[in-house]
Amino acid sequence: MAANGSTSTRVAIVGAGPAGLLLGQLLTVAGIDNIVIERRSPEHVLARIRAGILECGTVDALARAGVDARLRREGLVHHGIELSFGGARHRIDFHALIGRDVTVYGQTEVTRDLMAARQASGMPTVYDAEEVSLHDFDAQRPRVRYRKAGAMHEVACDFIAGCDGFHGVSRASVPATATQVFERVYPFGWLGVLSDTPPVADELIYASHPRGFALCSMRSKTRSRYYVQVPSTEQPEAWSDARFWDELRRRLDAPAAEALVTGPSIEKSIAPLRSFVCEPMRFGRLFLAGDAAHIVPPTGAKGLNLAASDVVYLADGLAAHYRDGDPRGLDQYSETCLRRVWKAERFSWWMTSLLHWFPDADAFAHRIQQAELDYLVGSEAACRSLAENYVGLPR
Ligand code: APR
Ligand code: PHB
Repeated sequence: MAANGSTSTRVAIVGAGPAGLLLGQLLTVAGIDNIVIERRSPEHVLARIRAGILECGTVDALARAGVDARLRREGLVHHGIELSFGGARHRIDFHALIGRDVTVYGQTEVTRDLMAARQASGMPTVYDAEEVSLHDFDAQRPRVRYRKAGAMHEVACDFIAGCDGFHGVSRASVPATATQVFERVYPFGWLGVLSDTPPVADELIYASHPRGFALCSMRSKTRSRYYVQVPSTEQPEAWSDARFWDELRRRLDAPAAEALVTGPSIEKSIAPLRSFVCEPMRFGRLFLAGDAAHIVPPTGAKGLNLAASDVVYLADGLAAHYRDGDPRGLDQYSETCLRRVWKAERFSWWMTSLLHWFPDADAFAHRIQQAELDYLVGSEAACRSLAENYVGLPR
């Protein structure tokens, strides 16, 4: 069908998650015109509950994009985390070990701030775009087409940024023969509950227990986020609030279990755990960024931070291209991103393996896991390695 609305811009960004919106802001600040095309409504995008631990580099990227004011006011700076196993808790003090910290600020709030900044900038965003399709990204003038309110539209551009998440159309538009995919699916998921109750502790508690992993996290001093490991086959409907709190309590050390304040859940969902990388991350004039190119299991909270580092590399590459005609940043985009991506994949896989209960693990594997936990909390070198990865490796 012929398009009955045609526009053109420099960069067409597919997807208005944190990757797409942050890239849009970084480009706008650099004076590079762009459009964001999103399949869902803004309300739908904001209703997704995801992790909320920001590395310093992510905070810096948000500052560059001019969206750090509220996060500096409301974000909680955490100097460490706690590991709970064998009935005791062990603190890993990032600040003392490597002099850096993380900021607790929900991805939903990051998205909200980016949406507000985009609206203020006047750069176009199309929500509720149907049948989004990518064309000619292997040629000089790529196009993105979509249907909105019954009419077809076409955007001609210099480059397409595929920021449309794991299930998006961008990666799916590349011939399978042009990609190599690396994947590991874990035999469990995380059942998460959000509740307006004070967090059980000042810092996050990652708990390893024979009944399974648990995580005590937070969004603010009055809103908590908790998770328990469940089999992949589990349904959230099978989990009443009472069952969830009971299971969580059983996986925590006694003081934490006692201090836990419970209340009605305001959100309850199960997320599968997966490691996934698509190589390369560039195909002609199409660049993949964020979950469109890679997925990490949530242990270690690297997903949002990786998305942010991808788009900083991409924004820098595009700025050098437009400002100086320098192609190097874009030419090296995939290789540069993947080097960092694989280190975060390794760390997320390692933290997942360290802390979860694997259904097919034998007695030897359990002893090795216990020894690794014991070694970790007893070795400053091992704690420093965890700290360095958790707060974020240098870009
Ligand atoms: N056309 C347009 N938009 C699409 C399409 C499509 N065909 N398919 C998906 N999208 C949109 C989704 O609706 C979503 O809003 O792309 C966006 C992708 O956003 P995210 O899934 O949040 O991915 P990303 O921006 O890369 O953010 C990574 O999200 O999953 C977490 O752990 C991850 O925190 C990390 C962050
Ligand atoms: C969260 O707060 O949702 C969260 C925190 C840390 C993680 C994963 C999720 O490792």
